[in-house]
Amino acid sequence: MDVLLLGASGRIGRRVVTELLDRGHDVTGVSRSGEIDGFDDAAFTAVAGDATDPDDVARLATGHDAVGSALGPAADASPDVLVAMMEAVVEGMRRASVDRLVWTGGAGILSVGPDTRLIETEEFPDEWVPVASAAIDAYDRLEAADDLRWTYLAPAALIEPGERTGEYRTARGELVTDDAGDSYISMEDFAVAFVDELEQGDAVHAALGVGY
Ligand SMILES: NC(=O)c1ccc[n+]([C@@H]2O[C@H](COP(=O)([O-])OP(=O)(O)OC[C@H]3O[C@@H](n4cnc5c(N)ncnc54)[C@H](OP(=O)(O)O)[C@@H]3O)[C@@H](O)[C@H]2O)c1
Repeated sequence: MDVLLLGASGRIGRRVVTELLDRGHDVTGVSRSGEIDGFDDAAFTAVAGDATDPDDVARLATGHDAVGSALGPAADASPDVLVAMMEAVVEGMRRASVDRLVWTGGAGILSVGPDTRLIETEEFPDEWVPVASAAIDAYDRLEAADDLRWTYLAPAALIEPGERTGEYRTARGELVTDDAGDSYISMEDFAVAFVDELEQGDAVHAALGVGY
């Protein structure tokens, strides 16, 4: 598969690039500067692009089989940039006639009980509310794009650099927790889930929680 990966220089994005390359896919990785070091592989090309600009997304997506996103707000950007990114990616993909999208979202949208999202719980940290709210607003834009074959992949409550075990569980619209009630996934195993979803595409038009 020939994949355009937005956010390829980020913490999660780098691990998705590694997983894609390890499975023999071709990857065009996008960052604002176009400089993404650490991938000495003929199947990897780094390019510059602005994910809030539909013209850039259309230009870059053209000719690819699928678009992946591990985009996040830059340090100096408002969390609401996630909404602008989603709108630009949806519009750019339409213009490029590429219809498969796997998007790294946020756990805040996931259900933790009847009519309760994680973001609505007392335990949800106040400092994460702005970015989690923006991620939910971005999801609402995505949900309206039923002409694209999209999957919104939401990490566990805690996602950190760790080990690649190849193990994970998913749940439609729900936070995945382990037997102790903890919700965790390593970035490496999230990348496994991300590439599995790109390859198998069995959760189209769905938000999937990913955890152990
Ligand atoms: N538990 C959770 O729900 C949870 C936890 C962690 C992360 N996440 C979500 O996962 C996503 C990725 O997280 P992360 O920690 O890997 O993020 P990160 O390390 O901050 O990476 C963000 C990526 O977005 C790129 N980017 C930012 N603005 C851009 C623009 N205008 N045009 C093109 N590229 C742009 C950055 O590229 P450059 O800066 O190099 O240009 C970088 O590659 C985020 O949406 C985050 O909210 C969710």
